[in-house]
Amino acid sequence: MATHPGRLTAPERPERPAPDAPASYALRAEQVVRRYGDRVVLHGIDLALEPGEFVALLGRSGSGKSTFLRAVAGLDDGVAGSGLLDVTERVSLSFQDSRLLPWARVADNVALGLTGPGPRARSVTALAEVGLAGRERAWPHELSGGEQQRAALARALVREPELLLADEPFGALDALTRIKMHALLRELYERHRPAVLLVTHDVDEAVELADRVLVLDEGRIAVDLAVELPAPRTRRDPRFQNLRDTLLAALGVAGRATATDGPDLTKTKEPR
Ligand SMILES: Nc1ncnc2c1ncn2[C@@H]1O[C@H](COP(=O)(O)OP(=O)(O)OP(=O)(O)O)[C@@H](O)[C@H]1O
Ligand SMILES: [Mg+2]
Repeated sequence: MATHPGRLTAPERPERPAPDAPASYALRAEQVVRRYGDRVVLHGIDLALEPGEFVALLGRSGSGKSTFLRAVAGLDDGVAGSGLLDVTERVSLSFQDSRLLPWARVADNVALGLTGPGPRARSVTALAEVGLAGRERAWPHELSGGEQQRAALARALVREPELLLADEPFGALDALTRIKMHALLRELYERHRPAVLLVTHDVDEAVELADRVLVLDEGRIAVDLAVELPAPRTRRDPRFQNLRDTLLAALGVAGRATATDGPDLTKTKEPR
């Protein structure tokens, strides 16, 4: 477990964990605040992810999802001293744009910065895992958008991260490719078991993939909902639809007018 330098307010760190707390977290945030000038975007985020937990983060556009992810990734010095942010050292990132380097072949992109034995062989294995065997020597521009996202996933997972941070990784893909990517991500997750924090606009994506769904609203985690649906999850399942309606209502989009007849939005997951 590492703390981003300068980001920890030492007196706020509890001296010892609560008796029922897990031995370690992939991510632990307490009262994380982010201001831009006078505007407070994150009002004090409290969130903990256990190792191997798959969490989706929903929220209206501009609600601060990317801001929070950047803070967790250690890409934002502006949250310094605003609370506690403990993050595992082995973090991988993935974004809407695959961010492959255009001048490096796909296998070199995946292997870039890899330490330890056999980076090339590990890159080739990772590419095979995402269905890109045989495309190792392709240039990124020779891949379709979906293939580029597969390569980006391979690059993220080849590092065997303990925490995968993904900011709308499928946001730019067509609906069919997105469905295939969902299946692939879940399959890779089952195999590698990193903790995942997936930012998405897509409520169906969140319920289909995650075991816990959060809604960020007004700079706070307003909803923390456990998804306890058996695999394979189908959108036709009434329980799926119920969760979907509840989340849509929480997002102020549609669905149920009030959440009172659905799961309790704040108490389905004990605060940690
Ligand atoms: N560098 C910055 N300077 C000033 N304001 C910023 C900056 N970066 C983000 N913001 C503001 O912070 C708020 C949250 O932005 P953020 O990108 O985190 O939203 P988001 O939830 O990821 O939205 P989207 O779903 O559209 O991606 C927005 O109102 C945005 O304008
Ligand atoms: Mg964003």
